[in-house]
Amino acid sequence: MAGEAQSWVLMATARAPTNIAVIKYWGKRDEALILPINDSISVTLDPDHLSATTTVAVSPSFKQDRMWLNGKEISLSGGRYQNCLREIRKRAGDVEDEKKGIRIKKEDWEKLHLHIASYNNFPTAAGLASSAAGFACLVFTLAKLMNVKDEHGDISAIARQGSGSACRSMYGGFVKWMMGNDADGSDSIAVQLASHTHWDDLVIIIAVVSSKQKETSSTTGMRESVETSPLLEYRAKTVVPGRVLQMEEAINSRDFASLARLTCADSNQFHAICLDTSPPIFYMNDTSHRIISLVERLNLSEGSLQVAYTFDAGPNAVLIAPNRKVAGLLLQRLLFQFPPPTDSELASYILGDKSILHEAGLQSMKDVEDLPPPVEIKDKVPSQKFPGDVSYFICTRLGSGPRLLTDENQALISPETGCPK
Ligand code: ADE
Repeated sequence: MAGEAQSWVLMATARAPTNIAVIKYWGKRDEALILPINDSISVTLDPDHLSATTTVAVSPSFKQDRMWLNGKEISLSGGRYQNCLREIRKRAGDVEDEKKGIRIKKEDWEKLHLHIASYNNFPTAAGLASSAAGFACLVFTLAKLMNVKDEHGDISAIARQGSGSACRSMYGGFVKWMMGNDADGSDSIAVQLASHTHWDDLVIIIAVVSSKQKETSSTTGMRESVETSPLLEYRAKTVVPGRVLQMEEAINSRDFASLARLTCADSNQFHAICLDTSPPIFYMNDTSHRIISLVERLNLSEGSLQVAYTFDAGPNAVLIAPNRKVAGLLLQRLLFQFPPPTDSELASYILGDKSILHEAGLQSMKDVEDLPPPVEIKDKVPSQKFPGDVSYFICTRLGSGPRLLTDENQALISPETGCPK
């Protein structure tokens, strides 16, 4: 190691997106390696709105591996972190920074310790797949710092060992996680189906649903479904393979009606399996069900599939619209039924791409109050409102995969102290 006499710090910083599955991953065939029982397909969300940013620093003065998440130190002793660190270190290459006069030989990485700081640009507790973005970002940043070559999707297979769905966050646009067949998991990797520019008019609206209930973690839920749900094997073996092919076709041909039909059907089947688990798992709540009904009514009144919904292991709704015009109409319907609390600002209720509010013709709280009841429910059911049942909405779109942030000001670790800024 050149430069050992004086202490130096070398760093890399990157940002990685989160993703939402439209064909769900539910059930592992190997718990330690995180190998799934079926393929899954996801859309990567715009990192401007939902992403993790991570800095990894290395220095001969560091005494142990340490990590800070959103400013608080966390333990790296868990198996998932240890697996990612071990697999990346195994593949580390020689690194040279001529300007700083630092040379690290690949065998040195085993002896050097790391300081890692990560932060999510969305609430970590909101149930928005923060671990997918987090582990994708951690593995991507480690690989860049340690000069690890990405051969045959190796890097996505390492991210998978941190959090299964993290492997899909290694790419932008539309991504397939191939379940693979090998016992060591080396072929259980993610591949990009199409970049985000392939279908760039899609709009995603996420309803972050308030919930007081402690949810079953997806790791526990999956294990219980594998052990007890008779439906699970039927889904994995008989239903998903056909759906994956149809979804790939829908993505290729930008066929929104097919994408919507498959997305809704797959979300509903995943939640049916949760109900089929013993004891049953309830991830959706009354608000989630009301959002499904709202979308189903909207689609029925328009006479075609205009909006898709999908729900992960929690009550939040992820809604997909084919364009900004439909997204505006959807937002009107959502805000009519789930208005912000009266004392709040519209700008703090609609996060992300606020220009969809413009599309919906909504500039102020007064505009929201003045929204007429949707035509399709006016005469049939009383137009009930549920203020407070949605904490906030995030309007976003498809986005690109992880990328290095080369501006040193964006680093989360101070080169002077080696600790978070
Ligand atoms: N879990 C949730 N967010 C994370 C992050 N940013 N990095 C690592 N693990 C996480």
